[in-house]
Amino acid sequence: MTNLLANLLPLPTDTDMPLSLAEILGALSYALDLTSGQALGHAQRTCLIGMRLGQEIGLPAAQSSSLYYALLMKDAGCSSNAARMFEIFGSDDIEAKRASKIVDWSNLMEALKYAAHHTLPESPLLARARRMLSIAANPGAVNHSFMHSRCNRGAQIALAIGLGQEAADCIRHLDEHWNGQGQPYQIKGDKIPIMARIACIAQTLEVFSTTFGLGAAYEVVRTRSRRWFDPDLVQAAHAFRQDDRFWQSVQHGTQAALRCLDLRTGTREATETSIDSVCDAFGQIVDAKSPFTAEHSSRVSGYAVEIAESLGFDAARSALMRRAGLLHDIGKLAVSNAILDKPGPLTDDEWVIVRRHPYHSQQILGQIRGFERLTQIAAAHHERLDGTGYFQGLGAADLDLDMRVLACADVFDALSAHRPYRDALPMSKVFAILDKDAGIALDADCIAALKSRYGDLELMPPSGPPLFIPKSAAPAPPLSAEDDLLRPRRAA
Ligand SMILES: [Fe+2]
Ligand SMILES: [Fe+2]
Repeated sequence: MTNLLANLLPLPTDTDMPLSLAEILGALSYALDLTSGQALGHAQRTCLIGMRLGQEIGLPAAQSSSLYYALLMKDAGCSSNAARMFEIFGSDDIEAKRASKIVDWSNLMEALKYAAHHTLPESPLLARARRMLSIAANPGAVNHSFMHSRCNRGAQIALAIGLGQEAADCIRHLDEHWNGQGQPYQIKGDKIPIMARIACIAQTLEVFSTTFGLGAAYEVVRTRSRRWFDPDLVQAAHAFRQDDRFWQSVQHGTQAALRCLDLRTGTREATETSIDSVCDAFGQIVDAKSPFTAEHSSRVSGYAVEIAESLGFDAARSALMRRAGLLHDIGKLAVSNAILDKPGPLTDDEWVIVRRHPYHSQQILGQIRGFERLTQIAAAHHERLDGTGYFQGLGAADLDLDMRVLACADVFDALSAHRPYRDALPMSKVFAILDKDAGIALDADCIAALKSRYGDLELMPPSGPPLFIPKSAAPAPPLSAEDDLLRPRRAA
């Protein structure tokens, strides 16, 4: 198996420095790149380009700091429309998102070509034509619904992590266009926050320079000046067109360059509270990806803590289990909803992709200094005592108690949760299934711990016990009424 990130994200070497919030968000931004279909490092490279633009126009220091974090987290809302995108287009949402970034939506031919390519690609012509017509009947509404959900959810996540209102507004408005034809609110000109205008041009420069080269990127920026982009920012971007050293650092020295910027804009040390907030936020990002597993990470986290406490873990070890529960499925952000939400059985090839998700979790989390132990626990959540799990093929001798706790919590939620396609299993049936695996695939003591807490219940309440309200800083607020309408509506 190739190492997905090895060439892109060297492990930090400055181990004497305290862990910074930027290091954590920088590493986790890879998960956002995966779910938005961008080349790995997209968010980090966009951050460097946007910060250079900020420098060119003399952005004040306080705003520069907010811009830095906003650019790293700009795609935090990307998972919130993935299921809906699959439901409407009927194709791989990750590929559709990747391609959407290089389409000029004001060009009808480009928009039609995109729709023809990504609408029900596996279906008969008639079904494809019907679906395209229904999308074409109100293309603005479809696009608005995707962007409204993505931008607002991203902004809410930024607030929940404590990045501040300016960073949240930057994320909310980064797809607005200078001529007022962007999304989600069609605001225009200098009514668009300056940081959002910077983010808009920076992400375009990144996508086109990585995909087609720097010349093509600058040509796109030039032709979209005054339509998509603030003309003053287009001019500022041209001021560093010939700075080869800068563009080399964007493509090949991203991590070091980001570290320098972090130090220059005032490093924010990662505190226990801020790490908890980030874990909560990314748990929510993962849970937003598919209605089939909504709230799964937060519930698994809660069950893992319950088992841990029942087994006598101390507070620090229980807190580690909580974080591992929130982040264990972060690798699922790399899996298309065409697979996660597929109405029928998966093919062998699709199973291979699904079974790779703990590997992606390992690769993403393993980049964070101080997360080594959490990474080991999270990466082992599908391993089994009898060696029948995946992806490492570990067995009883390899699986320590922390790993067993998380594996058990994960299975318990998979069996007991309400799902869009079925009701929750009765608790008697859940424990009958778990008991068959006790001491064979799953740890018997962990199952006993769950049984002592839930064995007398008939069914798990639909939204899980109130215990699972995050204990750390404020969680993202609930979706607004408009967002809620955009949630995938699938038959139960
Ligand atoms: Fe998993
Ligand atoms: Fe899971």
